[in-house]
Amino acid sequence: MHEQIEVFITEEAIQARVRELGAAIRAELETEDLLVVCVLKGSMLFFADLVRVLGDGVSFDYIAVSSYGTGTESSGRVRFIADLSQSIEGRDVLIVEDIVDTGRTLKHLRTILEARAPKSIRAVTLLDKPSRRVVEVPVEHRGFEIPDAFVVGYGLDLDEKYRALPYIGVFRGGNS
Ligand code: IMP
Ligand code: MG
Repeated sequence: MHEQIEVFITEEAIQARVRELGAAIRAELETEDLLVVCVLKGSMLFFADLVRVLGDGVSFDYIAVSSYGTGTESSGRVRFIADLSQSIEGRDVLIVEDIVDTGRTLKHLRTILEARAPKSIRAVTLLDKPSRRVVEVPVEHRGFEIPDAFVVGYGLDLDEKYRALPYIGVFRGGNS
Protein backbone atom coordinates (compact mmCIF):
# COMPACT_ATOMS: atom_id res chain seq x y z
CA MET A 1 0.00 0.00 0.00
CA HIS A 2 2.87 2.37 0.81
CA GLU A 3 5.60 1.10 -1.51
CA GLN A 4 7.38 4.45 -1.50
CA ILE A 5 7.73 4.54 2.29
CA GLU A 6 10.63 2.82 3.97
CA VAL A 7 10.30 1.80 7.62
CA PHE A 8 12.64 3.95 9.67
CA ILE A 9 11.55 3.18 13.24
CA THR A 10 9.54 0.01 13.71
CA GLU A 11 6.34 -0.27 15.70
CA GLU A 12 8.14 -2.48 18.23
CA ALA A 13 10.97 0.02 18.71
CA ILE A 14 8.48 2.86 19.20
CA GLN A 15 6.45 0.94 21.73
CA ALA A 16 9.56 -0.07 23.70
CA ARG A 17 10.80 3.52 23.77
CA VAL A 18 7.39 4.88 24.82
CA ARG A 19 7.44 2.51 27.82
CA GLU A 20 10.90 3.81 28.79
CA LEU A 21 9.83 7.44 28.41
CA GLY A 22 6.71 6.92 30.50
CA ALA A 23 8.72 5.26 33.24
CA ALA A 24 11.34 8.04 33.21
CA ILE A 25 8.70 10.77 33.43
CA ARG A 26 6.90 8.96 36.23
CA ALA A 27 10.16 8.52 38.13
CA GLU A 28 10.89 12.26 38.22
CA LEU A 29 7.37 13.42 39.03
CA GLU A 30 5.87 13.07 42.46
CA THR A 31 2.56 14.59 41.45
CA GLU A 32 -0.86 13.01 41.72
CA ASP A 33 -2.22 15.62 39.33
CA LEU A 34 -0.39 15.63 36.02
CA LEU A 35 -2.04 17.43 33.15
CA VAL A 36 -0.91 15.81 29.91
CA VAL A 37 -1.31 18.09 26.91
CA CYS A 38 -1.65 16.51 23.49
CA VAL A 39 -0.49 18.85 20.73
CA LEU A 40 -2.90 18.14 17.90
CA LYS A 41 -2.85 16.54 15.53
CA GLY A 42 0.56 14.94 15.19
CA SER A 43 0.91 13.77 18.80
CA MET A 44 -2.34 11.81 18.98
CA LEU A 45 -0.90 8.32 18.69
CA PHE A 46 2.14 9.02 20.87
CA PHE A 47 -0.10 10.65 23.47
CA ALA A 48 -2.51 7.71 23.50
CA ASP A 49 0.31 5.22 24.07
CA LEU A 50 2.22 7.39 26.56
CA VAL A 51 -0.74 8.10 28.87
CA ARG A 52 -1.33 4.39 29.24
CA VAL A 53 2.24 4.03 30.52
CA LEU A 54 1.90 7.07 32.81
CA GLY A 55 -1.19 5.41 34.27
CA ASP A 56 -3.35 6.71 37.11
CA GLY A 57 -3.49 10.32 38.16
CA VAL A 58 -3.29 12.02 34.79
CA SER A 59 -5.77 14.40 33.21
CA PHE A 60 -5.96 14.99 29.48
CA ASP A 61 -6.16 18.17 27.53
CA TYR A 62 -5.60 19.21 23.94
CA ILE A 63 -4.14 22.19 22.19
CA ALA A 64 -3.99 22.65 18.44
CA VAL A 65 -1.38 24.55 16.48
CA SER A 66 -0.34 24.51 12.88
CA SER A 67 2.89 25.59 11.27
CA TYR A 68 0.97 26.62 8.15
CA GLY A 69 3.09 24.85 5.61
CA THR A 70 2.24 22.41 2.87
CA GLY A 71 4.46 19.58 1.75
CA THR A 72 7.66 19.15 3.71
CA GLU A 73 8.38 22.82 4.37
CA SER A 74 7.06 24.66 7.40
CA SER A 75 6.25 28.33 6.93
CA GLY A 76 8.05 29.40 10.06
CA ARG A 77 4.86 30.89 11.49
CA VAL A 78 2.95 29.13 14.20
CA ARG A 79 -0.83 29.45 14.00
CA PHE A 80 -2.83 28.91 17.17
CA ILE A 81 -5.98 26.93 16.38
CA ALA A 82 -7.52 25.70 19.63
CA ASP A 83 -6.75 26.29 23.29
CA LEU A 84 -6.82 24.06 26.35
CA SER A 85 -10.18 23.60 28.04
CA GLN A 86 -8.99 24.16 31.61
CA SER A 87 -6.77 26.27 33.81
CA ILE A 88 -3.19 25.10 34.32
CA GLU A 89 -2.40 27.47 37.17
CA GLY A 90 -0.49 25.69 39.92
CA ARG A 91 -0.51 22.37 38.05
CA ASP A 92 2.17 20.06 36.72
CA VAL A 93 1.99 20.13 32.94
CA LEU A 94 3.51 17.75 30.41
CA ILE A 95 3.49 18.89 26.77
CA VAL A 96 3.46 15.93 24.39
CA GLU A 97 4.93 16.68 20.97
CA ASP A 98 5.39 14.47 17.95
CA ILE A 99 8.56 16.11 16.66
CA VAL A 100 10.77 19.10 17.40
CA ASP A 101 12.21 20.40 14.16
CA THR A 102 13.02 24.15 14.03
CA GLY A 103 11.77 24.37 17.62
CA ARG A 104 9.35 27.21 16.85
CA THR A 105 6.16 25.33 17.71
CA LEU A 106 7.37 24.09 21.09
CA LYS A 107 8.89 27.47 21.91
CA HIS A 108 5.59 29.16 21.15
CA LEU A 109 3.64 26.67 23.25
CA ARG A 110 5.98 26.93 26.20
CA THR A 111 5.78 30.72 26.14
CA ILE A 112 1.98 30.69 26.08
CA LEU A 113 1.65 28.08 28.82
CA GLU A 114 4.38 29.43 31.11
CA ALA A 115 2.51 32.76 31.19
CA ARG A 116 -0.39 30.94 32.90
CA ALA A 117 1.66 30.12 36.01
CA PRO A 118 1.71 26.33 36.06
CA LYS A 119 3.54 24.69 38.98
CA SER A 120 5.86 22.98 36.53
CA ILE A 121 6.08 22.48 32.82
CA ARG A 122 8.06 19.92 30.87
CA ALA A 123 8.04 18.65 27.33
CA VAL A 124 8.39 15.22 25.83
CA THR A 125 8.82 14.67 22.12
CA LEU A 126 8.86 11.36 20.35
CA LEU A 127 11.28 12.63 17.69
CA ASP A 128 13.94 15.31 17.72
CA LYS A 129 15.83 16.71 14.72
CA PRO A 130 18.50 18.78 16.50
CA SER A 131 20.32 19.64 13.27
CA ARG A 132 17.27 21.64 12.13
CA ARG A 133 16.93 23.82 15.22
CA VAL A 134 16.37 27.55 14.59
CA VAL A 135 15.27 28.59 18.08
CA GLU A 136 16.55 27.23 21.34
CA VAL A 137 13.95 25.50 23.46
CA PRO A 138 14.19 23.08 26.38
CA VAL A 139 13.10 19.49 25.69
CA GLU A 140 13.15 17.43 28.86
CA HIS A 141 12.49 14.03 27.28
CA ARG A 142 12.98 12.74 23.75
CA GLY A 143 12.30 9.37 22.21
CA PHE A 144 14.65 9.34 19.24
CA GLU A 145 17.12 11.78 17.73
CA ILE A 146 16.83 11.59 13.97
CA PRO A 147 18.74 13.13 11.05
CA ASP A 148 17.31 15.80 8.77
CA ALA A 149 14.81 13.68 6.84
CA PHE A 150 11.09 14.14 6.45
CA VAL A 151 9.30 11.37 8.31
CA VAL A 152 5.68 10.24 8.37
CA GLY A 153 3.53 7.82 10.34
CA TYR A 154 2.57 7.30 13.99
CA GLY A 155 0.69 10.61 13.88
CA LEU A 156 3.00 12.50 11.54
CA ASP A 157 1.65 13.54 8.18
CA LEU A 158 2.57 14.71 4.76
CA ASP A 159 -0.36 16.89 3.69
CA GLU A 160 -2.61 15.00 6.16
CA LYS A 161 -1.70 11.57 4.80
CA TYR A 162 0.05 8.63 6.51
CA ARG A 163 -0.85 9.57 10.10
CA ALA A 164 -2.33 6.15 10.88
CA LEU A 165 0.80 4.12 10.09
CA PRO A 166 1.95 2.33 13.27
CA TYR A 167 5.63 2.93 12.42
CA ILE A 168 7.77 5.92 11.42
CA GLY A 169 8.77 5.92 7.77
CA VAL A 170 10.76 7.98 5.31
CA PHE A 171 10.22 8.34 1.61
CA ARG A 172 12.47 6.18 -0.49
CA GLY A 173 14.68 8.21 -2.78
CA GLY A 174 15.25 11.06 -0.33
CA ASN A 175 13.20 14.03 0.70
CA SER A 176 12.99 17.71 0.04
P1 IMP B 1 8.87 23.00 14.39
O1 IMP B 1 9.62 23.34 13.15
O2 IMP B 1 9.75 22.47 15.47
O3 IMP B 1 8.01 24.15 14.82
O4 IMP B 1 7.88 21.84 14.01
C1 IMP B 1 6.68 22.18 13.40
C2 IMP B 1 5.85 21.00 12.99
O5 IMP B 1 6.33 20.61 11.72
C3 IMP B 1 5.88 19.73 13.82
O6 IMP B 1 5.04 19.75 14.95
C4 IMP B 1 5.34 18.77 12.78
O7 IMP B 1 3.94 18.85 12.70
C5 IMP B 1 5.95 19.30 11.50
N1 IMP B 1 7.13 18.52 11.12
C6 IMP B 1 8.43 18.84 11.27
N2 IMP B 1 9.22 17.87 10.78
C7 IMP B 1 8.37 16.92 10.29
C8 IMP B 1 8.57 15.66 9.64
O8 IMP B 1 9.70 15.16 9.39
N3 IMP B 1 7.45 14.99 9.30
C9 IMP B 1 6.19 15.45 9.54
N4 IMP B 1 5.96 16.61 10.14
C10 IMP B 1 7.05 17.34 10.51
MG1 MG C 1 2.18 18.47 10.52
